[in-house]
Amino acid sequence: MLAQIETARKPLEAYTVTAAHKKDLAGILRLVNGEAEKSGAVLGVTKRQVKTWIRGRKLFGRKNSGLSFVAKTPDGTVIGHQAMHVWPKSGWWEHRAVVTAEAYRSNGVNASITAALMEKVAEKAPDSTIVSLKNSASNGRRILDQLGFTRVDDHSKIPGEIFSIGAGGKWEVFIAAARDVKENLPRVKH
Ligand SMILES: CC(C)(COP(=O)(O)OP(=O)(O)OC[C@H]1O[C@@H](n2cnc3c(N)ncnc32)[C@H](O)[C@@H]1OP(=O)(O)O)[C@@H](O)C(=O)NCCC(=O)NCCS
Repeated sequence: MLAQIETARKPLEAYTVTAAHKKDLAGILRLVNGEAEKSGAVLGVTKRQVKTWIRGRKLFGRKNSGLSFVAKTPDGTVIGHQAMHVWPKSGWWEHRAVVTAEAYRSNGVNASITAALMEKVAEKAPDSTIVSLKNSASNGRRILDQLGFTRVDDHSKIPGEIFSIGAGGKWEVFIAAARDVKENLPRVKH
C-alpha cells in the first residue's frame, strides 16, 4: 500500500521553501541517499555533512560550511532538497544534493529551491563562484543554462578539492559568477 502511495504522481498544491532545520535531517538523508542509490545522479550525503550545511545558516560563508534548503508540504514532509557547499581552499560554492522526490517532479520545486538558495549566496557572496557537477543520469540542466552557468571542459581550471569527494571524470562541470546568477534569477522565478 505504501509503495503505491509513494510511486503515484501527487498533485502539489502547497509547499514551502526554507532553510533546512535539524528536524528535516532524516527526510533529507532519505531523499538524497535514496536518489543516489537509485540513479547515481547525485552523490550520497552523510548525516555529518548535512548537519554542517544546516548549521551553515548561522555561519554564513565560513569555509567548509554551506547551506541546505528544503521544500516541504504542510505536514512537514521533505519533498525537495538542495545544498551549497563552501570549499575550504578556493571558497567556491558547490551546488549539491539537488533532488526533488519523484512523485512531486515537474511542479517547479527544483526551480523554487534553486532560486531561493542562489539568491541567498548571490546577495551575501556576490564575488564568489558557484559550481555544479552533473553526470549522464543528472537532470535539471536547463535551469543552470537560464542562470548563466557555462560548461568547463578543462577540469584543470577547477579547484582540485571539488573532485575530492568521488566526483571523477564522468562528471561535467558548470560554473557561474554569483553576481551573474543574481541578474538571471528573475528568469527562473515562478
Ligand atoms: C532535476 C530535478 C531536481 C528537477 O526537479 P523538479 O522539481 O521536477 O524541477 P522543476 O519542476 O523545477 O522543473 C522540471 C521541469 O518541469 C517544468 N516545470 C516547472 N514548473 C512547472 C509547473 N508548474 N508545471 C509543470 N511543469 C513545470 C520545468 O519547465 C522543467 O522543465 P525543463 O527541465 O525543461 O526546464 C529532479 O528531476 C530530480 O531530482 N532528478 C534526479 C536527481 C538529479 O538529477 N539531480 C540533479 C543532479 S545535479
